[in-house]
Amino acid sequence: MTVSVSKDPARIARMFDAIARRYDTLNHLLSAGFDRRWRRRAVTALGFTGRERVLDMCTGTGDLAIEAVTSRAGQAAEVVGADFSSEMLHLAAGKVQRAALDGRIRLLRGDATSVPFADGTFDAAMVAFGIRNVLDPDAACREFHRVLRPGGRLAILEFGAPRLPGLRTLYLSYFRYVLPAVGRLVSKHQDAYEYLPASVMAFPTGEAFAGRLRDAGFSTATFRRLTGGIVYLYVAVKD
Ligand SMILES: C[S@@+](CC[C@H](N)C(=O)[O-])C[C@H]1O[C@@H](n2cnc3c(N)ncnc32)[C@H](O)[C@@H]1O
Repeated sequence: MTVSVSKDPARIARMFDAIARRYDTLNHLLSAGFDRRWRRRAVTALGFTGRERVLDMCTGTGDLAIEAVTSRAGQAAEVVGADFSSEMLHLAAGKVQRAALDGRIRLLRGDATSVPFADGTFDAAMVAFGIRNVLDPDAACREFHRVLRPGGRLAILEFGAPRLPGLRTLYLSYFRYVLPAVGRLVSKHQDAYEYLPASVMAFPTGEAFAGRLRDAGFSTATFRRLTGGIVYLYVAVKD
């Protein structure tokens, strides 16, 4: 079966609305708990000092925003978490409230390609596992650049695939066959977890994406492979 990797915003928002309630469970299950570690790495890379105002675009159920204001490796002062799925935001709001973080995390509905803030508003911006879903990721990266202050940093986490031949074959079998089957069973959504590997394999990784960040205006953009290349962490700086 061919899986549609259409990034039509209405379709993507509908898909995340539909899987929102099972999203966290599946995230932790399908990544064997590694997702928490990957978000910690992104927050650590931003080197917060307690004073930063941060944008978490594609915040989903808010885990990266929460990590940014509670991290033991340095915290942001406040985070604006934005997403275009109201169901994901609804779940994020519940988590933020239960953790008594409403004073430090503000959630709003918005699209990554049109960030509703003035130029230079944020000290840092971050996106976890969201950028590959955006219809025009280059426009989104230009927006992140625009809303950052000079010297501001951007961290992006996105999936890749291991490069080590044996591990790669093993992982790709898991990613293409096991993950969609478990995802379908738990989320009851027909194709969201088939879209996941299909969209990852179609998205640029490593230097290819770092170059796109430079094209969007960032003076430097580097990347690190996490967990053998299952995830890439990009860090870009605005001059
Ligand atoms: C895979 S989830 C990641 C959520 C969260 N960042 C995390 O680490 O678990 C991707 C999120 O990106 C959101 N999203 C995708 N495209 C978007 C866009 N163009 N603008 C805003 N949000 C978007 C989806 O609604 C979804 O909540």
